[in-house]
Amino acid sequence: MTKESSPGTARAVAHANIALAKYWGKSERGDNLTAVPSLSLTLDALTTRSQVSFDASLKSDEVILGGKTLGGRELTRVTELLDRVRKAAGESRFARVDSINNFPTAAGLASSASGFAALAVAARAAAGLPASDKDASKLARQSSASAARSIFEGFVELLEDTDSAEPVAPSSHFDVCMLVAIVQQERKDVSSTGGMEQTRLTSPYYRGWLEAAPPLFREIKQALLARDFERLAWGMERSTLLMHASMFGADPPIVYFKPTSVELIHAIKNRRAGGHPEAFTLDAGPNVKVLTLASHAAKTEEFLLRVPGVTRVIVCRPGPRAALLSLDGPLSEARRTDAAP
Ligand code: PMV
Repeated sequence: MTKESSPGTARAVAHANIALAKYWGKSERGDNLTAVPSLSLTLDALTTRSQVSFDASLKSDEVILGGKTLGGRELTRVTELLDRVRKAAGESRFARVDSINNFPTAAGLASSASGFAALAVAARAAAGLPASDKDASKLARQSSASAARSIFEGFVELLEDTDSAEPVAPSSHFDVCMLVAIVQQERKDVSSTGGMEQTRLTSPYYRGWLEAAPPLFREIKQALLARDFERLAWGMERSTLLMHASMFGADPPIVYFKPTSVELIHAIKNRRAGGHPEAFTLDAGPNVKVLTLASHAAKTEEFLLRVPGVTRVIVCRPGPRAALLSLDGPLSEARRTDAAP
């Protein structure tokens, strides 16, 4: 069959990641590059699976997420990624994209990170582009900067003004768990992209954030490499609060915290002072993620489930890299082929 008559289809899985050292703000150089460096942990339990089929019978791209057809800005973001792939591969056909998350979408759970990473890997393979972590990470980053990090396993960095993320340490480096305490499952009001831009344009504290983030990133990376939980806890909480402080200073202000988020911040701080190895972080949403040692995860989970307002807790271990999936059977059950993206 010729390329034009046979649908080029591929499937991929990617895992969400949560930043220990946050990025917030885009570089003045454009192309969705980040203004500050970030360092994340890929999470095994939060996945997006995506199937991409280039098909000559389609009149436009069709994108389905969790059984719902996307339109508007959400569709455009996917189409823009597909356009970049089409250009690189000399592919003229439109594509059908089917994606499923195994967790709530757009509630500060990094669904865009796993989503665009899975899409980038599947779309490149479907278009016949050669496997390349660097190129898959760049492609994902151009749509959602945090997605660049979800190409890799374990601990991953994305430096400022840099095209692709890089692995820092494998999943086995540090025996930790990240517990995601869900306080709200609904979609957030302010997107991360819109929130960053509003912060950059209106917050007097944005400049302070840009100054503080790079040295803090270096401290967090050193603490991680030394497996120094106390120092890592200090750094990641400081990164979280400096980032949110820059948002509080925006006009209109951006406040992702809910009462339960604030309650958990206080509780984790007190528990750590009382000897529990736990540290909090929050992204562009009210859910609180708690880092702890794997040996302590059951105690942390038990505590979080007792907090009124916490509706669910997802216990995550350091997760694997993004990978292609077999085309056999339903997307939700396809197995990793472990070919590089
Ligand atoms: O790249 P985005 O649009 O997914 O924004 C991610 C921003 C934060 O999650 C708040 C921080 C980070 O580094 O992941």
